[in-house]
Amino acid sequence: MVFKNVREWLEAPAASVAERGGRLNVLRGAVARVTTPLLPDDYLHLANPLWSARELRGRVVEVRKETADSATLVIKPGWGFDFKYQPGQYIGIGILVEGRWHWRSYSLTCPPNWSEPGHGGKRVISIAVKAMPEGFLSSHLVNGVKPGAVIRLQAPQGRFVMSFPPPDKVLFLTAGSGITPVMAMLRGMDRRERVTDVVHLHSARTAEDVMFGNELRALHDRHPSFSTHLHLTGENGKFKLTDLDERFPDWRDRETWACGPAAMLDEIEKHWREAGLSDKLHVERFEAERSAIGEGGTVTFAKSDRSVEVDGATSLLEAGESAGVQMPFGCRMGICQTCVLTLSSGHARDLRNGDEKREGDKVQTCISAAAGDCTLEI
Ligand code: FES
Repeated sequence: MVFKNVREWLEAPAASVAERGGRLNVLRGAVARVTTPLLPDDYLHLANPLWSARELRGRVVEVRKETADSATLVIKPGWGFDFKYQPGQYIGIGILVEGRWHWRSYSLTCPPNWSEPGHGGKRVISIAVKAMPEGFLSSHLVNGVKPGAVIRLQAPQGRFVMSFPPPDKVLFLTAGSGITPVMAMLRGMDRRERVTDVVHLHSARTAEDVMFGNELRALHDRHPSFSTHLHLTGENGKFKLTDLDERFPDWRDRETWACGPAAMLDEIEKHWREAGLSDKLHVERFEAERSAIGEGGTVTFAKSDRSVEVDGATSLLEAGESAGVQMPFGCRMGICQTCVLTLSSGHARDLRNGDEKREGDKVQTCISAAAGDCTLEI
């Protein structure tokens, strides 16, 4: 790795800190030994809040409106961020609002090792957030966060990815903010000049609601093999999958990536299953679907000696965080299993399917709620 100047060297992410080798980590390790018992972190982040090896952080460097209720956040990650993620993966964002950390996952909209004009050639990442009426954090990210804000980051993850080189024939089916992971794939293909035969069908309520509309049109103009099609649900209702045969007669030959509301994805999965094509379909769900609720109760965190009373819609993870317990978590949507804890007494309910967990069972705290009083081993 070559650093052009001291500042760049200082601000460069310690890729190795995230469990990899590398010169920087060796150097930081040496510094840590010299400075024992204090770790470099203990005073480094006094100088710059992005200098932390214990957790990933980032600074918001730009907030750019996409539509009336959505915005792109450009973030400059600090020490330890791994820029080698795959287009289509998501990232956890933690932001401090009124003294509490709030976390959500958002798809990265940029390809790996991305540097945007206007940021001095530095590698940045971006996410696009749509403000949901009931979503406190998403509204805050779209309308409240200012450039300069320091946020926490989680390592990119997720299996909704496109390998490189891309398949010869691709179909993207997106709706609303479901376009965000696909945007990363498209930008990645564009940057590597490998836009194969790609058809994109995007549904939005009105033309004004389309995120990245101009960029999609520009891509369309630049790459004859890419075509983007808009379906306005406000005028035409939902897109009917039975119309695929007429609109895109070769859809069965295409490797398909779909992202959007749960009901749309359910229909797509069914349609592809019935066509015997499930192995050609990749689906990304943004939220764990919650069809059940617990009864609520008092949740006790045994080792931390804390307890909190919660309703049946609050996850055990949120319950712990509100009581000040250091809860483990990853995706916060029921995928990664990082949040699993043992239930040492009482009952909890899986909010996705209503399954009841009892004493001795492992529970995914991010998608489970109390079903009466219960105790977790943490
Ligand atoms: S945090 Fe990923 S499954 Fe719970």
